[in-house]
Amino acid sequence: MTTSERSPAARKTAAKEPGKAPRATADKIGRQDWSSWPHYDKAASGFRGYWYPVTWASHITGDPKPFTLCGEKITLIRDNGKVYALHNRCPHRGVPLSEGNQQFPGTVSCPYHGWTFDLPTGRLSAVITDGPGCRLTGKLSVRTYAVEERLGMVWVYMPIAEEEPHPIDEQLPEELVSNAFVMGGRFDPRGGNWRFACENGFDEGHAKYLHRTALWRLFKPMPTWNITRIVPKGRWIYRVQDEVYWEADFPGVGRWTNKRWWMKQPPEGTFNLGNTGKTDKVDPVIESQDFPGFASLSMPGMLRIAYPNFMHYEFYVPIDADHHMYVGVMVNFKQGWDTLPFYAKYLGAVRWLFHGQFSGQDAWMVDVTDAPPEKLYRPDVSLTSWRNLSEEEYAKRIAAAGVTEATANSTETEA
Ligand code: FES
Ligand SMILES: [Fe+2]
Repeated sequence: MTTSERSPAARKTAAKEPGKAPRATADKIGRQDWSSWPHYDKAASGFRGYWYPVTWASHITGDPKPFTLCGEKITLIRDNGKVYALHNRCPHRGVPLSEGNQQFPGTVSCPYHGWTFDLPTGRLSAVITDGPGCRLTGKLSVRTYAVEERLGMVWVYMPIAEEEPHPIDEQLPEELVSNAFVMGGRFDPRGGNWRFACENGFDEGHAKYLHRTALWRLFKPMPTWNITRIVPKGRWIYRVQDEVYWEADFPGVGRWTNKRWWMKQPPEGTFNLGNTGKTDKVDPVIESQDFPGFASLSMPGMLRIAYPNFMHYEFYVPIDADHHMYVGVMVNFKQGWDTLPFYAKYLGAVRWLFHGQFSGQDAWMVDVTDAPPEKLYRPDVSLTSWRNLSEEEYAKRIAAAGVTEATANSTETEA
Protein backbone atom coordinates (compact mmCIF):
# COMPACT_ATOMS: atom_id res chain seq x y z
CA MET A 1 0.00 0.00 0.00
CA THR A 2 2.97 2.31 -0.03
CA THR A 3 3.65 4.49 -2.98
CA SER A 4 6.93 6.05 -3.90
CA GLU A 5 6.90 9.72 -3.18
CA ARG A 6 8.71 10.54 -6.38
CA SER A 7 6.56 11.50 -9.35
CA PRO A 8 6.69 9.46 -12.58
CA ALA A 9 8.26 12.49 -14.29
CA ALA A 10 11.03 12.66 -11.69
CA ARG A 11 11.68 8.91 -11.99
CA LYS A 12 12.01 9.28 -15.76
CA THR A 13 14.56 12.06 -15.34
CA ALA A 14 16.59 9.88 -12.96
CA ALA A 15 16.60 7.02 -15.49
CA LYS A 16 17.86 9.28 -18.28
CA GLU A 17 20.84 10.55 -16.36
CA PRO A 18 22.59 7.60 -14.77
CA GLY A 19 24.56 8.44 -11.67
CA LYS A 20 22.81 11.77 -11.27
CA ALA A 21 20.23 12.27 -8.62
CA PRO A 22 17.28 14.30 -9.89
CA ARG A 23 17.66 17.84 -8.70
CA ALA A 24 14.77 19.33 -6.84
CA THR A 25 14.18 22.94 -7.69
CA ALA A 26 12.01 25.23 -5.64
CA ASP A 27 9.04 24.90 -7.97
CA LYS A 28 9.52 21.19 -8.82
CA ILE A 29 9.57 19.49 -5.46
CA GLY A 30 7.85 16.13 -5.06
CA ARG A 31 4.78 15.02 -6.97
CA GLN A 32 3.67 17.41 -9.68
CA ASP A 33 0.28 15.88 -10.42
CA TRP A 34 -2.08 13.01 -9.53
CA SER A 35 -1.61 11.09 -12.77
CA SER A 36 -0.72 7.95 -10.77
CA TRP A 37 -4.41 7.92 -9.72
CA PRO A 38 -6.20 8.70 -13.00
CA HIS A 39 -9.79 8.15 -11.83
CA TYR A 40 -9.19 10.04 -8.61
CA ASP A 41 -7.54 12.83 -10.56
CA LYS A 42 -10.64 13.19 -12.76
CA ALA A 43 -13.09 13.01 -9.87
CA ALA A 44 -12.94 16.71 -8.98
CA SER A 45 -16.74 16.82 -8.92
CA GLY A 46 -17.05 13.46 -7.20
CA PHE A 47 -17.15 9.77 -8.09
CA ARG A 48 -20.39 9.03 -9.89
CA GLY A 49 -21.94 5.61 -9.33
CA TYR A 50 -22.55 6.06 -5.57
CA TRP A 51 -25.24 7.14 -3.12
CA TYR A 52 -24.76 10.50 -1.39
CA PRO A 53 -26.61 12.07 1.55
CA VAL A 54 -28.03 15.39 0.38
CA THR A 55 -30.10 16.76 3.27
CA TRP A 56 -32.19 15.78 6.29
CA ALA A 57 -35.32 13.85 5.33
CA SER A 58 -37.41 16.21 7.47
CA HIS A 59 -36.40 19.15 5.25
CA ILE A 60 -38.04 17.69 2.16
CA THR A 61 -41.71 18.51 1.81
CA GLY A 62 -44.18 19.08 -1.05
CA ASP A 63 -42.33 22.34 -1.79
CA PRO A 64 -39.46 21.48 -4.19
CA LYS A 65 -35.96 22.47 -3.00
CA PRO A 66 -32.74 22.95 -5.03
CA PHE A 67 -29.45 21.08 -4.46
CA THR A 68 -26.23 20.50 -6.37
CA LEU A 69 -24.59 17.08 -6.28
CA CYS A 70 -21.49 16.10 -8.28
CA GLY A 71 -21.88 19.33 -10.24
CA GLU A 72 -25.42 18.38 -11.26
CA LYS A 73 -28.44 20.47 -10.30
CA ILE A 74 -31.27 18.48 -8.78
CA THR A 75 -34.52 19.23 -7.03
CA LEU A 76 -36.02 17.16 -4.23
CA ILE A 77 -39.73 17.03 -3.48
CA ARG A 78 -41.90 14.81 -1.28
CA ASP A 79 -45.21 13.49 -2.58
CA ASN A 80 -47.49 11.11 -0.70
CA GLY A 81 -44.67 10.34 1.76
CA LYS A 82 -42.05 9.48 -0.87
CA VAL A 83 -39.10 11.68 -1.91
CA TYR A 84 -38.36 12.19 -5.62
CA ALA A 85 -35.27 13.68 -7.27
CA LEU A 86 -35.41 15.36 -10.69
CA HIS A 87 -32.90 17.26 -12.78
CA ASN A 88 -33.51 20.84 -11.74
CA ARG A 89 -33.94 22.39 -15.15
CA CYS A 90 -37.12 22.83 -17.15
CA PRO A 91 -36.33 21.82 -20.76
CA HIS A 92 -38.51 24.68 -22.06
CA ARG A 93 -36.36 27.70 -21.09
CA GLY A 94 -34.12 26.35 -18.37
CA VAL A 95 -35.96 27.63 -15.32
CA PRO A 96 -35.24 25.57 -12.16
CA LEU A 97 -38.19 23.34 -11.32
CA SER A 98 -37.44 24.02 -7.65
CA GLU A 99 -38.89 27.51 -8.25
CA GLY A 100 -42.22 25.91 -9.10
CA ASN A 101 -44.77 23.93 -7.11
CA GLN A 102 -47.35 21.17 -7.28
CA GLN A 103 -50.51 21.76 -9.31
CA PHE A 104 -51.55 18.09 -9.54
CA PRO A 105 -50.81 15.12 -7.26
CA GLY A 106 -47.67 13.19 -8.25
CA THR A 107 -46.24 16.05 -10.36
CA VAL A 108 -44.25 19.28 -10.18
CA SER A 109 -44.97 22.28 -12.41
CA CYS A 110 -42.46 24.81 -13.68
CA PRO A 111 -43.40 28.32 -12.46
CA TYR A 112 -42.90 30.02 -15.85
CA HIS A 113 -45.35 28.41 -18.32
CA GLY A 114 -46.68 25.53 -16.30
CA TRP A 115 -44.89 22.62 -17.93
CA THR A 116 -45.76 19.78 -15.59
CA PHE A 117 -43.61 16.72 -14.92
CA ASP A 118 -44.53 13.33 -13.51
CA LEU A 119 -42.42 12.75 -10.37
CA PRO A 120 -41.63 9.01 -10.67
CA THR A 121 -40.67 9.14 -14.39
CA GLY A 122 -39.84 12.81 -15.07
CA ARG A 123 -42.11 12.64 -18.14
CA LEU A 124 -43.84 15.85 -19.32
CA SER A 125 -47.40 14.98 -18.35
CA ALA A 126 -49.21 18.27 -19.10
CA VAL A 127 -48.45 21.73 -20.47
CA ILE A 128 -50.92 24.01 -18.70
CA THR A 129 -50.55 27.03 -21.01
CA ASP A 130 -50.89 25.02 -24.25
CA GLY A 131 -54.08 23.20 -23.35
CA PRO A 132 -54.85 19.49 -23.06
CA GLY A 133 -53.88 18.83 -26.68
CA CYS A 134 -50.24 20.01 -26.39
CA ARG A 135 -48.26 17.80 -28.75
CA LEU A 136 -45.20 17.72 -26.52
CA THR A 137 -47.06 15.98 -23.70
CA GLY A 138 -45.56 12.56 -23.06
CA LYS A 139 -42.78 13.13 -25.61
CA LEU A 140 -40.03 14.46 -23.41
CA SER A 141 -38.82 14.15 -19.88
CA VAL A 142 -36.34 15.40 -17.32
CA ARG A 143 -33.85 13.03 -15.76
CA THR A 144 -34.86 11.38 -12.50
CA TYR A 145 -32.57 9.92 -9.83
CA ALA A 146 -32.96 7.04 -7.43
CA VAL A 147 -33.66 8.17 -3.85
CA GLU A 148 -33.50 6.38 -0.49
CA GLU A 149 -34.00 7.56 3.08
CA ARG A 150 -31.49 6.30 5.65
CA LEU A 151 -30.14 7.73 8.94
CA GLY A 152 -32.86 10.38 8.74
CA MET A 153 -31.29 11.68 5.53
CA VAL A 154 -32.24 11.73 1.85
CA TRP A 155 -29.66 9.84 -0.23
CA VAL A 156 -29.48 10.27 -4.00
CA TYR A 157 -27.73 7.89 -6.40
CA MET A 158 -25.66 9.80 -8.96
CA PRO A 159 -25.35 7.42 -11.93
CA ILE A 160 -22.29 6.99 -14.15
CA ALA A 161 -24.51 6.31 -17.15
CA GLU A 162 -27.95 4.71 -17.10
CA GLU A 163 -27.07 1.86 -14.72
CA GLU A 164 -29.32 0.56 -11.95
CA PRO A 165 -28.01 1.66 -8.54
CA HIS A 166 -26.52 -0.87 -6.15
CA PRO A 167 -28.47 -1.36 -2.89
CA ILE A 168 -27.66 1.54 -0.56
CA ASP A 169 -27.14 -0.81 2.40
CA GLU A 170 -24.06 -2.23 0.64
CA GLN A 171 -22.52 1.21 0.84
CA LEU A 172 -23.44 2.23 4.40
CA PRO A 173 -21.17 1.31 7.32
CA GLU A 174 -22.13 -2.31 8.11
CA GLU A 175 -22.79 -1.63 11.80
CA LEU A 176 -25.45 0.95 10.92
CA VAL A 177 -27.46 -1.48 8.80
CA SER A 178 -28.10 -4.15 11.39
CA ASN A 179 -28.10 -2.45 14.82
CA ALA A 180 -30.46 -0.10 16.64
CA PHE A 181 -28.89 3.28 17.46
CA VAL A 182 -29.49 6.94 18.18
CA MET A 183 -27.68 9.65 16.31
CA GLY A 184 -27.06 13.36 16.06
CA GLY A 185 -25.42 15.17 13.18
CA ARG A 186 -25.04 18.20 11.00
CA PHE A 187 -24.89 19.12 7.32
CA ASP A 188 -22.35 21.89 6.82
CA PRO A 189 -21.76 23.30 3.31
CA ARG A 190 -18.05 24.11 3.01
CA GLY A 191 -15.58 25.55 0.54
CA GLY A 192 -12.84 23.38 -0.94
CA ASN A 193 -12.74 20.23 -3.01
CA TRP A 194 -14.33 17.10 -1.49
CA ARG A 195 -11.04 15.17 -1.96
CA PHE A 196 -9.17 17.58 0.33
CA ALA A 197 -11.91 17.10 2.92
CA CYS A 198 -11.73 13.32 2.61
CA GLU A 199 -7.94 13.27 2.74
CA ASN A 200 -8.01 15.55 5.76
CA GLY A 201 -10.41 13.21 7.53
CA PHE A 202 -8.09 10.21 7.19
CA ASP A 203 -4.85 12.23 7.41
CA GLU A 204 -2.58 10.61 9.97
CA GLY A 205 -0.43 13.58 10.81
CA HIS A 206 -2.69 16.55 11.41
CA ALA A 207 -4.98 15.85 14.38
CA LYS A 208 -2.22 15.88 16.98
CA TYR A 209 -0.99 19.25 15.78
CA LEU A 210 -3.87 21.17 14.18
CA HIS A 211 -6.45 20.15 16.80
CA ARG A 212 -4.21 20.59 19.85
CA THR A 213 -5.95 23.89 20.55
CA ALA A 214 -9.52 22.57 20.16
CA LEU A 215 -11.68 22.81 23.29
CA TRP A 216 -12.83 19.24 22.58
CA ARG A 217 -9.28 18.21 23.47
CA LEU A 218 -8.83 20.55 26.45
CA PHE A 219 -8.41 17.78 29.02
CA LYS A 220 -7.13 14.94 26.85
CA PRO A 221 -3.65 15.18 25.38
CA MET A 222 -2.88 13.78 21.97
CA PRO A 223 0.39 12.12 20.94
CA THR A 224 3.23 14.05 19.32
CA TRP A 225 3.82 11.43 16.65
CA ASN A 226 2.96 7.81 15.82
CA ILE A 227 4.19 4.90 13.80
CA THR A 228 1.14 4.01 11.77
CA ARG A 229 0.29 1.26 9.31
CA ILE A 230 -2.59 1.17 6.86
CA VAL A 231 -4.48 -2.11 6.94
CA PRO A 232 -7.12 -3.05 4.35
CA LYS A 233 -10.14 -5.06 5.49
CA GLY A 234 -13.10 -5.60 3.17
CA ARG A 235 -13.94 -2.33 1.40
CA TRP A 236 -12.30 -0.25 4.16
CA ILE A 237 -8.76 0.82 4.95
CA TYR A 238 -7.77 1.33 8.61
CA ARG A 239 -5.10 3.37 10.32
CA VAL A 240 -3.41 1.12 12.83
CA GLN A 241 -1.13 2.67 15.44
CA ASP A 242 1.90 0.51 16.18
CA GLU A 243 3.76 3.02 18.29
CA VAL A 244 2.62 6.20 20.02
CA TYR A 245 4.99 8.91 21.26
CA TRP A 246 3.68 11.52 23.67
CA GLU A 247 6.76 13.73 23.56
CA ALA A 248 9.90 14.03 21.51
CA ASP A 249 13.28 15.76 21.47
CA PHE A 250 14.00 17.36 18.14
CA PRO A 251 17.80 17.63 17.71
CA GLY A 252 19.01 21.16 17.78
CA VAL A 253 15.48 22.52 18.18
CA GLY A 254 14.04 21.33 21.46
CA ARG A 255 11.41 19.24 23.19
CA TRP A 256 7.77 19.15 22.08
CA THR A 257 4.68 17.61 23.62
CA ASN A 258 0.92 18.05 23.70
CA LYS A 259 0.85 17.18 27.41
CA ARG A 260 -0.15 19.90 29.86
CA TRP A 261 -0.40 19.86 33.67
CA TRP A 262 -4.22 20.13 33.64
CA MET A 263 -4.74 17.24 31.23
CA LYS A 264 -5.26 13.57 31.99
CA GLN A 265 -2.13 11.46 31.94
CA PRO A 266 -1.68 9.67 28.62
CA PRO A 267 -2.16 5.91 28.71
CA GLU A 268 0.66 3.39 28.77
CA GLY A 269 1.29 1.62 25.50
CA THR A 270 -0.61 1.95 22.25
CA PHE A 271 -4.34 1.85 21.59
CA ASN A 272 -6.57 1.59 18.55
CA LEU A 273 -9.93 2.82 19.79
CA GLY A 274 -10.35 6.57 20.10
CA ASN A 275 -7.38 8.88 19.73
CA THR A 276 -6.62 9.79 23.33
CA GLY A 277 -6.21 6.48 25.07
CA LYS A 278 -7.54 3.13 26.16
CA THR A 279 -10.66 2.49 28.16
CA ASP A 280 -11.81 -0.57 30.04
CA LYS A 281 -15.45 -0.43 29.02
CA VAL A 282 -16.18 -0.75 25.33
CA ASP A 283 -19.68 -0.76 23.85
CA PRO A 284 -20.48 -4.39 22.88
CA VAL A 285 -21.63 -3.47 19.35
CA ILE A 286 -18.41 -1.53 18.74
CA GLU A 287 -16.29 -4.29 20.26
CA SER A 288 -17.96 -6.95 18.13
CA GLN A 289 -17.00 -5.12 14.91
CA ASP A 290 -13.37 -6.01 15.54
CA PHE A 291 -12.09 -2.87 13.85
CA PRO A 292 -8.33 -3.21 13.24
CA GLY A 293 -7.85 0.55 13.84
CA PHE A 294 -9.87 3.49 15.12
CA ALA A 295 -9.99 5.46 11.86
CA SER A 296 -11.28 3.84 8.69
CA LEU A 297 -12.28 5.07 5.27
CA SER A 298 -14.28 3.68 2.37
CA MET A 299 -15.71 4.84 -0.95
CA PRO A 300 -16.99 7.27 -1.96
CA GLY A 301 -15.52 9.28 0.92
CA MET A 302 -16.98 7.87 4.12
CA LEU A 303 -14.89 8.21 7.27
CA ARG A 304 -15.55 6.18 10.40
CA ILE A 305 -13.93 6.88 13.77
CA ALA A 306 -14.48 4.26 16.47
CA TYR A 307 -14.44 5.50 20.05
CA PRO A 308 -14.99 3.12 22.96
CA ASN A 309 -18.63 4.13 23.44
CA PHE A 310 -19.75 5.93 20.32
CA MET A 311 -19.01 6.14 16.62
CA HIS A 312 -18.33 9.24 14.60
CA TYR A 313 -18.83 9.36 10.82
CA GLU A 314 -17.99 11.96 8.20
CA PHE A 315 -19.40 11.92 4.70
CA TYR A 316 -17.71 14.26 2.22
CA VAL A 317 -20.36 14.96 -0.37
CA PRO A 318 -19.18 16.59 -3.62
CA ILE A 319 -21.25 19.64 -4.49
CA ASP A 320 -18.95 20.77 -7.30
CA ALA A 321 -15.21 21.01 -7.87
CA ASP A 322 -14.83 23.82 -5.32
CA HIS A 323 -17.48 23.03 -2.69
CA HIS A 324 -18.50 20.05 -0.62
CA MET A 325 -21.05 19.21 2.03
CA TYR A 326 -19.54 18.06 5.31
CA VAL A 327 -21.91 15.63 6.98
CA GLY A 328 -20.86 14.79 10.54
CA VAL A 329 -22.76 12.10 12.42
CA MET A 330 -22.37 10.73 15.91
CA VAL A 331 -23.94 7.40 16.77
CA ASN A 332 -24.62 5.62 20.05
CA PHE A 333 -25.86 2.03 20.01
CA LYS A 334 -28.53 2.56 22.65
CA GLN A 335 -32.30 2.36 22.83
CA GLY A 336 -35.08 3.66 25.08
CA TRP A 337 -34.14 5.58 28.25
CA ASP A 338 -30.48 4.76 27.69
CA THR A 339 -30.47 7.28 24.85
CA LEU A 340 -30.99 10.28 27.15
CA PRO A 341 -27.35 10.69 28.22
CA PHE A 342 -26.34 10.56 24.55
CA TYR A 343 -28.75 13.34 23.57
CA ALA A 344 -27.60 15.44 26.53
CA LYS A 345 -23.96 14.94 25.57
CA TYR A 346 -24.58 15.51 21.86
CA LEU A 347 -26.69 18.66 22.18
CA GLY A 348 -24.72 20.02 25.14
CA ALA A 349 -21.19 19.45 23.87
CA VAL A 350 -20.51 17.30 20.82
CA ARG A 351 -22.51 19.36 18.36
CA TRP A 352 -20.66 22.57 19.28
CA LEU A 353 -17.22 21.39 20.34
CA PHE A 354 -16.61 18.41 18.05
CA HIS A 355 -18.82 18.83 15.00
CA GLY A 356 -18.45 22.59 15.45
CA GLN A 357 -15.14 24.08 16.62
CA PHE A 358 -12.89 21.00 16.26
CA SER A 359 -14.27 20.22 12.81
CA GLY A 360 -14.11 23.92 11.91
CA GLN A 361 -10.31 23.65 12.11
CA ASP A 362 -10.52 20.96 9.42
CA ALA A 363 -12.83 23.15 7.31
CA TRP A 364 -10.23 25.93 7.50
CA MET A 365 -7.42 23.64 6.27
CA VAL A 366 -9.55 22.08 3.51
CA ASP A 367 -10.44 25.51 2.21
CA VAL A 368 -6.79 26.62 1.99
CA THR A 369 -5.14 23.37 0.81
CA ASP A 370 -3.66 23.75 -2.68
CA ALA A 371 -2.34 20.49 -4.16
CA PRO A 372 -0.88 19.02 -6.32
CA PRO A 373 2.03 19.74 -6.52
CA GLU A 374 2.80 18.20 -3.16
CA LYS A 375 5.78 16.74 -1.30
CA LEU A 376 4.37 13.94 0.81
CA TYR A 377 5.97 12.75 4.08
CA ARG A 378 5.90 9.39 5.92
CA PRO A 379 2.50 9.82 7.67
CA ASP A 380 0.94 10.58 4.27
CA VAL A 381 0.77 6.85 3.59
CA SER A 382 -2.79 7.46 4.84
CA LEU A 383 -3.42 9.67 1.80
CA THR A 384 -1.71 7.50 -0.80
CA SER A 385 -3.49 4.40 0.55
CA TRP A 386 -6.86 6.13 0.19
CA ARG A 387 -6.07 7.19 -3.38
CA ASN A 388 -4.99 3.62 -4.18
CA LEU A 389 -8.21 2.30 -2.62
CA SER A 390 -10.33 4.71 -4.63
CA GLU A 391 -8.64 3.60 -7.88
CA GLU A 392 -9.25 -0.08 -7.10
CA GLU A 393 -12.80 0.36 -5.89
CA TYR A 394 -13.81 2.66 -8.71
CA ALA A 395 -12.52 0.18 -11.31
CA LYS A 396 -14.82 -2.41 -9.67
CA ARG A 397 -17.71 0.06 -9.65
CA ILE A 398 -17.30 0.77 -13.37
CA ALA A 399 -17.25 -2.95 -14.12
CA ALA A 400 -20.31 -3.59 -11.91
CA ALA A 401 -22.21 -0.77 -13.58
CA GLY A 402 -21.35 -2.25 -16.98
CA VAL A 403 -20.09 1.05 -18.36
CA THR A 404 -16.99 1.75 -20.38
CA GLU A 405 -13.97 3.67 -19.15
CA ALA A 406 -14.82 6.46 -21.59
CA THR A 407 -18.32 6.89 -20.13
CA ALA A 408 -17.00 6.63 -16.59
CA ASN A 409 -14.54 9.42 -17.23
CA SER A 410 -17.05 11.63 -18.94
CA THR A 411 -17.47 14.97 -17.23
CA GLU A 412 -20.88 15.54 -18.76
CA THR A 413 -23.25 16.87 -16.17
CA GLU A 414 -26.32 17.92 -18.13
CA ALA A 415 -29.20 15.48 -18.40
S1 FES B 1 -39.42 27.59 -18.68
FE1 FES B 1 -40.45 26.02 -17.69
S2 FES B 1 -42.41 26.15 -18.48
FE2 FES B 1 -41.37 27.63 -19.58
FE1 LIG C 1 -9.18 16.90 11.73
